[in-house]
Amino acid sequence: MEIVITSDPESAAVIAADAIERLLKIEPNPVLGLATGSSPLPIYHELIRRYQRGIISFAHARAFLLDEYVGLEPGHPEAYKSFIQREFTGQVDLPHDALDGPDGTTKGLQSAPEAYETLIREAGGIDLQLLGIGSDGHIGFNEPTSSLGSRTRLKTLTDATRRDNARFFDNDIDAVPRHVLTQGIGTILDARHLVLIATGESKAAPIALAVEGPLTAMIPASALQLHPRVTVLVDEAAASGLLNANYYREAYENKPDWQPI
Ligand code: F6R
Repeated sequence: MEIVITSDPESAAVIAADAIERLLKIEPNPVLGLATGSSPLPIYHELIRRYQRGIISFAHARAFLLDEYVGLEPGHPEAYKSFIQREFTGQVDLPHDALDGPDGTTKGLQSAPEAYETLIREAGGIDLQLLGIGSDGHIGFNEPTSSLGSRTRLKTLTDATRRDNARFFDNDIDAVPRHVLTQGIGTILDARHLVLIATGESKAAPIALAVEGPLTAMIPASALQLHPRVTVLVDEAAASGLLNANYYREAYENKPDWQPI
């Protein structure tokens, strides 16, 4: 696992955008895994800027969402598909039909998880998966005690996560759906490169547990310890609980030029 500590969220976003730019240039048909929520927004804004300057194109890319709320009507502004179209994919040249997310409408809910796994598999798997981390250590919406081998499925959000996300629903926790469809931890671990971004003091505790704590289903993000290629991008505030922070800084500062994240 590579831990990169940056002075601010924007510098972390530049490093993630560099990795995505490299992928877009190397892979003829790159497959991106996209997280929603606040943490990856600076990455999306950086990618939009690079697209507008003609540096990158998403014309041959595909994108898969990590998760989706269940029961919001299609086109609801806080449905994750609407969110990502508004904040990112609708502002670059990713073809409209190249974006997929789990189908969280109640019709067909039972078949949606398997259908989503099939879509990802048929696309050749995800090259680079962006992740955030919840205050309870979740990745995707795999809440504590999620099986470390889980696949895409229906999950129930914890009260803590619904409270965290109420800010997107006029601070009304009752408006936050109770159920979601999420890529499982096993699904996430299948991606070829995982890039987790966490910024701000509220992420210090879950980051410390995920990176330096034991592998446990109580901290789903600790499952990243099993993956051969993980980059954790944290600003100083999110890094403040890390015991080995100086070692991570030294390793990154002395990294050979030929070895990108
Ligand atoms: C979003 C997702 C979640 C968020 C996490 C952190 O697609 O899967 O795991 O990444 O809840 O959310 P923010 O970034 O809003 O703090």
